[in-house]
Amino acid sequence: MDSSLFFDPSLLKSQPTVPLNFVWPKECLEDSHEELQAPVLDLDGFLRGDNEATLHTANLIRKSCLSHGFFQVINHGVDSALIREAYDQMDAFFNLPIHRKLNALKTQGSLWGYSGAHADRFASKLPWKETLSFPFHDNSLDPVVTNYFHSTLGEDFQQAGVVFQKYCEAMKGLAMKVVELLAISLGVDRLHYKDLFEEGCSIMRCNYYPSCQQPSLALGTGPHCDPTSVTILHQDDVGGLDVFVDKKWQTVKPRPNALVVNIGDTFTALSNGRYKSCLHRAMVNEYKDRRSLAFFLCPKEDKVVRAPKDIVLKDGTKQYPDFTWSNLLEFTQKYYRADEDTLPNFTKW
Ligand code: SIN
Ligand code: FE2
Repeated sequence: MDSSLFFDPSLLKSQPTVPLNFVWPKECLEDSHEELQAPVLDLDGFLRGDNEATLHTANLIRKSCLSHGFFQVINHGVDSALIREAYDQMDAFFNLPIHRKLNALKTQGSLWGYSGAHADRFASKLPWKETLSFPFHDNSLDPVVTNYFHSTLGEDFQQAGVVFQKYCEAMKGLAMKVVELLAISLGVDRLHYKDLFEEGCSIMRCNYYPSCQQPSLALGTGPHCDPTSVTILHQDDVGGLDVFVDKKWQTVKPRPNALVVNIGDTFTALSNGRYKSCLHRAMVNEYKDRRSLAFFLCPKEDKVVRAPKDIVLKDGTKQYPDFTWSNLLEFTQKYYRADEDTLPNFTKW
């Protein structure tokens, strides 16, 4: 790989103006003036097995999923020290010189590795960010994340792999609990979706959004819906996550110790279209770099994604065709618009 082909991201930051291919159309850049009503749910009672607290939490989840699919959780059981360690490791990676980061370069068609608008996308409307994505399998005898870091970045990143392995284990555990709450909220057996997700390969992504000299023209992540099932996001204290609800952009303000959860397209299909997977974006900032950690829960690749019979019966119609996560991945590889960072909504009939 000829690294002279790639810009050093810090050079982009130091230019007086944003290069033209980072300037997004006006309709994507409209300001957000309101805070999103994304309920903050205390998971303590549910995690302790308290029935009343569980039903109360599931009810709040149901309301937010019917309207936009975003909610936040606190007392979620994930150690705040582990979250801090994950940020430290992520900082160490993104601070590397570009030629070192390119050791983990995401190749075309692959979901895994380092990517930046400056590194692998030469199209219009580039996102102002760098990312590092890697796979997580919870049933593997090998610690997959640790191996990924070791094989792409070498000995120096062995410890980063260990930290992210632990972080992903914690996220997967929480995601499975959230799926239980989603099942309860839909009125089906709480373990209905367990088999579908238990052995799936999830996706972890570290997002680094450098400060931007003209933040009103650029976007960190363009408007998109997540194609996955459930996303658990930790955002740092800078802020920049917006959700498009009621025809306007609304902000999810960072809250210390909270994790932001949102429904992706696959879960919309699993709820027979009842639960929303909402358009969202990440803004950039003139003064501060922003970081976020995203964990995407995905179904086991060959299992059929289909809404529970009871729900379809109640709704009267089946809203989505059966599909597998492999089908969806194949489709998105074909039609993924790297320049817009969006995925086509293929699942709707
Ligand atoms: C994303 O939705 O891909 C990123 C969201 C964020 O960084 O806030
Ligand atoms: Fe997203």
